Formats: sequence, C-alpha cells, structure tokens
Amino acid sequence: MKRRVAILISGRGSNMTALVEAAKAEGYPAEIAVVISNKAAAEGLAKARAAGIPTLVIESKPFGQDRVAFEAKLQSALDDNRIDLICLGGFMRLFTADFVQRWQGRMLNIHPSLLPSFRGLDPHGQALRAGVKISGATVHFVIPETDAGPIIIQGAVAIRDDDTAETLAARVLEIEHRIYPDALRLVASGGTRVDGEICKTAANASPDDSLISPSVI
Ligand code: GAR
Repeated sequence: MKRRVAILISGRGSNMTALVEAAKAEGYPAEIAVVISNKAAAEGLAKARAAGIPTLVIESKPFGQDRVAFEAKLQSALDDNRIDLICLGGFMRLFTADFVQRWQGRMLNIHPSLLPSFRGLDPHGQALRAGVKISGATVHFVIPETDAGPIIIQGAVAIRDDDTAETLAARVLEIEHRIYPDALRLVASGGTRVDGEICKTAANASPDDSLISPSVI
C-alpha cells in the first residue's frame, strides 16, 4: 500500500512539484494525497492544482501566536485525508513540540545547506560568508529544534568564487529536487531506521562518492 503524503508549503512549491512528479512513477511507494498551504497566495497551490493534486489553504495568520489552535485545524485536515507522512517544502511556520512529537519519524523537511551547518534564514549567504567550498541540501526528520533532526540524505555542490547567494541557491535547488524524492522513497518504503539522533538507510553511497572543491590541477 502506498503511503499517503501531505506536502505543506508556504510559497513557490518547487520541491512539492519534484515530489509530485516523482510520485507518478510506477512502483513509487508514496502518493501525494494533498498539498496544504498556510498562505492563500502561495504560488505552489496553482502548480498542485494543475497537477491534479487536491489542495487546502489553512491560513496561519488569523491564528497569530496561537500555534495550538492552528495545529488542531491542520491535524484534522491530515486526519480527514488519512495522512501517513508529512513533507515540509518551504513551509515557513514553526510547530509546537507536541505537534512535532505526534509526527515523530513521519515528518520530513528539506533545508538548503549541509546541516548541521547554516540553519535558519539565509543559509546560502551564511555559507558564502563562512567561505566553505562545498554546500548543498539536507532532508531530515523533523524534531522540535528548527532545521535539525536525523539526516536522511544530503546532496552537495561545489561553491564557485564568483557565486552569489542567488547563483548558489539555484544550483542547490537542483540538488534539492533530486534528493527529496529519493528521501521520500526511502522513508515510504521502510528503508530508514532512526537510532537516537542518527538515521541509517538501506541505501549505499553513490559509486563516486567524493566531491573535492576546488579542483587543483
Ligand atoms: C527551498 O530551498 C527549501 O530548501 C527552503 O525553502 C525553499 C522552498 O522552495 N527551506 C528552508 O529554508 C527551511 N528552513 P520551494 O517552495 O520552491 O520548494
């Protein structure tokens, strides 16, 4: 039985689209049952509708600081849709520890850095200011701490001397669109096992698993 997935978005929804596309493949172990946005103006909603995915808007703004009431409404939508797994795709709203615990091991997030480096806002600017030579993206299980939790998969890109936050973001985004569907495939097929803070997977490193940057002749 395919696992039923809700994707939560607040904006563009390009990771959502990557997951929707991947889930069309025969044998993919998850189906995207619903896309939920906390913002009515999220661009991703139209993309989801165009792909034939049911959408829901649960505006978070009217709830103000009342996270519990917002989450109660969200939870009832998740129940109505018999959701097994949640994928956060640029969902810009923090959850209470209670909500996170209810979904422990069943809620994934993507963050555009090689965690645990550069959590929070402006990860690409943070990476450039730190002068690291390699950056990337991480899919992880959600825990109460923001942009932290057992790491399921990471993808890396080399940073170029002339990179700006925008050019780096564009290359990392391509990696995001590759690794998020892979992470969901692993989790939905039972290919992950969390032991404390560590996630072990049934998959191996890729055959060429080295990335050295810069490349010195
Ligand atoms: C993505 O780059 C995602 O990694 C990031 O928001 C963007 C959403 O883009 N998430 C975070 O920074 C979470 N801390 P998308 O709406 O096109 O998928």
